[in-house]
Amino acid sequence: MIGRRPGPTSGTAVVTGAGAGLGAAIAARLAARGLHVVAADIDLPGAERTAAATGGTARRLDVTDAQACRALVADTPDLVVWVNNAGILATGPGWSTDEATRRRLFDVNVHGLINGTTAALEVFRPARRGHVINVVSLAGLVPAPDETIYGATKHAALAFSVGTQLDLARRRERGVRISALCPDGIWTPMLFDHVDDPDAWPSWSGTMLQPDDVAAAAVELLDRPSPVRSIPRRRGLAARFYAATPGLSARGLRGIVWLAHRRQRAWARDNPRPTAPAAPTAVAVPSPVDDRSPGTTPTPTTPTEDLDA
Ligand SMILES: NC(=O)c1ccc[n+]([C@@H]2O[C@H](COP(=O)([O-])OP(=O)(O)OC[C@H]3O[C@@H](n4cnc5c(N)ncnc54)[C@H](O)[C@@H]3O)[C@@H](O)[C@H]2O)c1
Repeated sequence: MIGRRPGPTSGTAVVTGAGAGLGAAIAARLAARGLHVVAADIDLPGAERTAAATGGTARRLDVTDAQACRALVADTPDLVVWVNNAGILATGPGWSTDEATRRRLFDVNVHGLINGTTAALEVFRPARRGHVINVVSLAGLVPAPDETIYGATKHAALAFSVGTQLDLARRRERGVRISALCPDGIWTPMLFDHVDDPDAWPSWSGTMLQPDDVAAAAVELLDRPSPVRSIPRRRGLAARFYAATPGLSARGLRGIVWLAHRRQRAWARDNPRPTAPAAPTAVAVPSPVDDRSPGTTPTPTTPTEDLDA
């Protein structure tokens, strides 16, 4: 079991994929907590926008480059938090995803996350402190039909994240923490491109989240560490249930897809796609997402259990 001492409120945090979407929101939350944030992104102008909004530093980083991840660690004094957030999405059945796309998905979502984690551990393990937050997805807990390859990458990311936490525990290296964040769909540029894509229905199968809500839950992990945190928590249990009952899931799939398509169409109608890149705004008081808010969209199941390990 992981200890409950408070997480860092000073030092430096690196956030990958911080140029947009969830990464930009996490950068803002970490800065509001008092950390200096290095916004790292393959898109340097995006990273610069986030750095300007959060008083941090921008770095161009392609997470698929292991050496570049290690160099960033070496260039970052007082590193206490590393957030592997960079990720990409492609939709469609597994057989329709071409090889180059498959490989790119695994390069960014799996190898990128492993590169960042292992680079950060090079300083965290000798220092006996540090927290790696790995942004996975509910698609890491349950196969996501029509986002099939994406889901496969997220399963690998989750297995690596939890496995590495257990590697540390087995060696009694308790000061270093690794957490996997498994959110439902988040309204970010990743989904702006897919709002009219019928194959993106898994992203609308439950609760559509806002980036700042997920960022608040991510940063809360620093004080309340957990190997796996699903958002909303009840969707994590639903995901585990579906994953454990593939035959039952296949039988219920038609209804789930129908409902998700209905939600997706309503979302597209009510939420015009933002045109300009959104810079993160300053955050005053962090407040974790309220999973049990009555305002959240109901899911096709009635899960109740907390997934946290
Ligand atoms: N949006 C969702 O519905 C959703 C749901 C669950 C999990 N996630 C995960 O959250 C994370 C962030 O997603 P998002 O929705 O903010 O996406 P996004 O597309 O809005 O932002 C992703 C950022 O990652 C950067 N990036 C892409 N490839 C990179 C690379 N090789 N090196 C460095 N940076 C790179 C992009 O430039 C972009 O700034 C991803 O890991 C995604 O899989 C997203």
